[in-house]
This record gives sequence, structure tokens and C-alpha cells, in this order.
Amino acid sequence: MHFQDIDAYLRRVMPPREKVPAAMEKYARRNRFPIIGPQVGRFLYQLAIATKARKILELGSGFGYSAYWFSMATGKRGHITMTDSDENNRDRAMKYFRQAGLESKINFILGDALQIAAGLKGPYDIILNDIDKHEYPDTIEVAARLLRPGGFFITDNIIWSGRVYDAAVKDRTTRGVRKFTKYLYADRRFFTTIMPVRDGIAVAMKV
Ligand SMILES: C[S@@+](CC[C@H](N)C(=O)[O-])C[C@H]1O[C@@H](n2cnc3c(N)ncnc32)[C@H](O)[C@@H]1O
Repeated sequence: MHFQDIDAYLRRVMPPREKVPAAMEKYARRNRFPIIGPQVGRFLYQLAIATKARKILELGSGFGYSAYWFSMATGKRGHITMTDSDENNRDRAMKYFRQAGLESKINFILGDALQIAAGLKGPYDIILNDIDKHEYPDTIEVAARLLRPGGFFITDNIIWSGRVYDAAVKDRTTRGVRKFTKYLYADRRFFTTIMPVRDGIAVAMKV
């Protein structure tokens, strides 16, 4: 059994999504746009509620699917800083947030996520990392600087469709994910658990 089979099964049994996230999933499917999907989305929602998160930063927001789960969890007092280098993603994201009446909770900053983060001040309660995989190792310092103690640094695609454990695969994206995983596990500023949810997530708590 492969993780895609597990994901397909869980999608069949999980409750349906509300109108806006359902429309986002449809757009992602039709346009082959990589989003975290509802399994990881539900986890982010649960984590944000459990930790009473208010201030959230995303590195690589796409058109807003992951941020939408956060925005549903954080309530009126939440604030989500989104980043993406693609203007079309920003416009599409803001359209969905307007539809849901949630745009006041969002600050979408266009440009390179690592450069933007260098100019931000923390502390954040949660940081989600979903940028290009070869850049993953550079995000560890960002999270270490910007997270509050006890805050969570979540990174998607840690299993990378199984490429990480196939020794024959040596491309730069796979190497980026492998290096990131090894460094994050070893970093004493975090306590890290890798969870095989969908394509794998790293859940690192800043100690
Ligand atoms: C996998 S998608 C993000 C999906 C989003 N987290 C979700 O689940 O809805 C990755 C996004 O990161 C953006 N991206 C990749 N590297 C980036 C970087 N260095 N700076 C800003 N955006 C970046 C891409 O444009 C793309 O939209």
C-alpha cells in the first residue's frame, strides 16, 4: 500500500469541506496545483486551536488553501502573514478570502519568502513552510528567529513522494528535503516529530 492509497481512502471517509475550501480543492485538482490537502489542513486547524495561535506566518502560500484552514481556526483575533512570489496566486487567494469575508485577517506579501522573512519581526505562534524544496534548509534559521518558545514550525512534503528514501534519486529538490530533515532533527532549538500524514509533515516545536 502506498501513501496515495491511504490519502485517497481518508479523503473518502472525512467530512466534506465548506464551500470556499471545496472550491479551492477543485481549482487545485483541475490545475494540478500542489496544496497541502484536507488531511494536513485539518491538522493545521487543530494545532492552531489547541495552541490558541493568533499570529501565523506562511512561507509559500500559493493561492491560500493552507492559510484558509488557519484563518478558520484563529478566529477574529487571528492574523496571517502570507508570502508567495507569484502575483496570480496572491490575486486568487485574496478573491477567496473576500468571498469568505476573512480578508481583514490576511497580510499577503508578494516576493521571495526568505527575503521577506528576513525583514519580519516575531514572535509568531506557528510558521508553515511550503516553499521550493531546495530552499528548505534555509528556513530553519527563519523559524528559529521568528517563532516564540513553544511555537510550531510545520513543513510539508517531508516524504516527497518516497523520493527521499530512494538512494538513486539525487536531484536538488530531494537533496534539499533530505538535508532539511536531518538538520531539523539534529537542531536542539526544536523538538521535531516527522508525521507521515499525506506526503509527510515535520512538526517542530521551538523549545
Ligand atoms: C506547494 S505551493 C504552496 C501551497 C500552499 N501552502 C497551500 O497548501 O495552499 C508552493 C508555493 O510557494 C511559492 N514559492 C516557492 N518558493 C518560493 C519562495 N522562495 N518565495 C516565495 N514563494 C515561493 C510558489 O509560487 C508556490 O505558489
